[in-house]
Amino acid sequence: MNDFVFCSPTKFVLGKGAVDKTGAEMAAAGFGKVLLVYGQGSVVRSGVLDRVKASLEAAGVPYVEAGGARPNPEVCWVRDAIAVARENQVEGVLAVGGGSVIDAAKATAFGVPYEGDVWDFFANKQPIGECLPIAAVLTIPAAGSEASASCVISCDAENRKLGASGDVFRPKLAIMDPEVTFTLPAYQTAAGVTDMIAHICERYFSGVGAVPVTDNIATGLVCALMDAAPRVLEQPDDYDARATIMWAGTLAHNDIAGCGRSLNPTARAGGWESHALEHELSAHHPEITHGAGLAVVMPAWMRYVWRTNPERFLDFAADVFGIEPVEEEYCPRDEAVEDAVTAAIDELQAFFRSLGMPATLADFGLTPDDIDPLLETLRASKGEPFGAFQKLTMEDARAIYLSMF
Ligand code: NZQ
Ligand code: ZN
Repeated sequence: MNDFVFCSPTKFVLGKGAVDKTGAEMAAAGFGKVLLVYGQGSVVRSGVLDRVKASLEAAGVPYVEAGGARPNPEVCWVRDAIAVARENQVEGVLAVGGGSVIDAAKATAFGVPYEGDVWDFFANKQPIGECLPIAAVLTIPAAGSEASASCVISCDAENRKLGASGDVFRPKLAIMDPEVTFTLPAYQTAAGVTDMIAHICERYFSGVGAVPVTDNIATGLVCALMDAAPRVLEQPDDYDARATIMWAGTLAHNDIAGCGRSLNPTARAGGWESHALEHELSAHHPEITHGAGLAVVMPAWMRYVWRTNPERFLDFAADVFGIEPVEEEYCPRDEAVEDAVTAAIDELQAFFRSLGMPATLADFGLTPDDIDPLLETLRASKGEPFGAFQKLTMEDARAIYLSMF
């Protein structure tokens, strides 16, 4: 087990009716006037926003609104929200939505005290200093932003989608009410589950050997998700399955599933290769849902790199799918290992497909001619080579993208 620093300062309030406790929890946590950030209407239609507002009013927490943050949130929206926050002298930010809304809220929260342009934190890696306190009412379990140290923002003018990281903007409070996720479309539910599994796998396949405590948490989360996801697609109001998915999504990305797997104690475990490849897809094509992109990217990345460390993939195959290589007396070892690993990757991809996720880039309407522009921005974003499990050049990245058709 490598050295690690694990910081998860968020207070989680998970359960039926949690939304109605938002105001009281915010007041107890010392929040003053907040900027109430939300997305493109789902929380208006579901009534969640009105319930949050009523609870803020009952608890005496003043707010001003900033709605309309889009999926794959854009920096222009963040700039406008920063202006509203400054004009109204808010002291904190409350996000009501999913990863896009929470990330838009995070960028606003560390953009307000900064004199320069907020995009500096993403494009120029400006270190994050002060940050307004953040709370989140989670409406879609997926990105894990309600407890993560990450924030991902797009800039359409530059075809870029970039992340910033820092413990300072981990939310202080996360309100998690599984009942509000009953309204999620099947596609978004499935994309969310795929994203969670990717967050676990990015850490699991990190270039570090077995770490039993963390590995059991990781594969246990994947198994819980693989059990719960088909149940909610069958019955969208299955409370226990929704709650399982919601909590698994948080643990998939608050870093508990990576403890002891990092090469640098204060950095996140993993090389995040699949996320790097996917972020270019949704940067150039913002209509691509992040999790759906990962359903295509991650199996392709796995098929390309597994030979670098077959033992790690065999552990995953055994613990998640119960797949073991055939005994040597029946089959040469190399062949048996290849069969077991590829069977596990096939099973994982088949699971994503069974949830309604795409399997190829053609499913998004892309062609091989769309790949070169992705490589240009990938090199600018990640450098070359990038990754931890296996270092990848742009030629490797091209081969991985082309294998997705
Ligand atoms: O905008 P509204 O109208 O609210 O609709 C949203 C959106 O269209 C809808 N939705 C949310 N809750 C709902 C609902 N519809 C019905 N009922 C509900 N209860 O779902 C759609 C997707 O929402 P979004 O917030 O975009 O989803 P997600 O949580 O997957 O967030 C994706 C974003 O997070 C980034 C991704 O790159 C992407 O930009 N990520 C952020 C991370 C982080 N901060 O730690 C890590 C991830 O790896 C990821 O990169
Ligand atoms: Zn993700």
